Amino acid sequence: MTAQDFIPKTYKSTIKNGKVTWESPSNIALVKYWGKKENQIPANPSISFTLNHCKTITELSYTKRETSNSFSFEVFLEGKKKDDFKPKIEIFFERVIVYMPFLKDFHFKIETSNTFPHSSGIASSASGMSALALCLMSIEKQLKPEMTDEYFNQKASFLARLGSGSACRSIEGDLIVWGESHAISGSSNLFGTKYPYQVHENFKEYQDTILLVDKGQKQVSSTVGHNLMHEHPYAENRFQQAHDNLEKLKPILESGDLNKFIALIESEALTLHAMMLTSMPYFILMKPNTLEIINKIWQFREDTGLHVGFTLDAGANVHVLYPKKEAKVILDFIKNELVAYCQNEQYICDQIGFGAKIINN
Ligand code: PMV
Repeated sequence: MTAQDFIPKTYKSTIKNGKVTWESPSNIALVKYWGKKENQIPANPSISFTLNHCKTITELSYTKRETSNSFSFEVFLEGKKKDDFKPKIEIFFERVIVYMPFLKDFHFKIETSNTFPHSSGIASSASGMSALALCLMSIEKQLKPEMTDEYFNQKASFLARLGSGSACRSIEGDLIVWGESHAISGSSNLFGTKYPYQVHENFKEYQDTILLVDKGQKQVSSTVGHNLMHEHPYAENRFQQAHDNLEKLKPILESGDLNKFIALIESEALTLHAMMLTSMPYFILMKPNTLEIINKIWQFREDTGLHVGFTLDAGANVHVLYPKKEAKVILDFIKNELVAYCQNEQYICDQIGFGAKIINN
């Protein structure tokens, strides 16, 4: 597949107006994407768990219009007009118009809401951009009814990637790879693909409790962070390490070795933040409570031998990851000992999920 394959030739059908709704989940990377090339091509491959409860629900209404010289759309978040979302969507439309030539022929009303609290510090770009890409694909499917499900999902992921890189890993589940890796057959820089190898029972229904340590606006956007990898003194080693870690993860996922799994994901999380600490300019996204939580997790693990680990996004929140069979004791530990470090004691219980769903209007 190349990007050219996503440029449609002609559409046989025509449509006037309608409405489509998708719900699309967030995802949490185990091997992290940090650093990109032109056109949202990742500097290294990554792999993520698709989440189940943290989702964006987007309803897209479309009406055919007479003139078609510019984009015409309005955006609502939780029922309120959100003009500050418009520039990001305008950039997204600019990037994808070559693949979706009908975009200027319609007026769009984008109505979106999240299942997680607004400004919780959880990035809504992965779920939000994937939901929007899927809605656009549903329109294209009406223009081109012969499209296969495989093409639909690949192109949805391809478009989502152009909105926000990690969004391409939110279309399907439960483990998604993005970025070419010689270790993963079928992997692509253009879109996310399902992890194609055997995965041990231990990882079924894997739990992710998200501790909301800091709900404030991020001091540094991920776009700026990715760009700082261009001049970064450790970039090349980091990109190679991500390739190696993805390869090392294969036997771990197959055998269900939870100790090795935890060591790998925690190292990935801390390496991501180490890249931020060592860029120029440098920055720190962890908060004192992020470190308190990490230390508590390590102590609890040493005391009990249970398989609780953590990963981090580009922010202060902590994703606490653990197997379903140990969930009861670990959730008690989280409630009794970790929630006190969260802002307003807020946390979200999630688990591995299976991707986006269309909602019939
Ligand atoms: O999709 P972006 O550009 O917001 O980048 C997200 C990068 C991380 O969340 C930090 C890592 C990842 O692979 O999701």
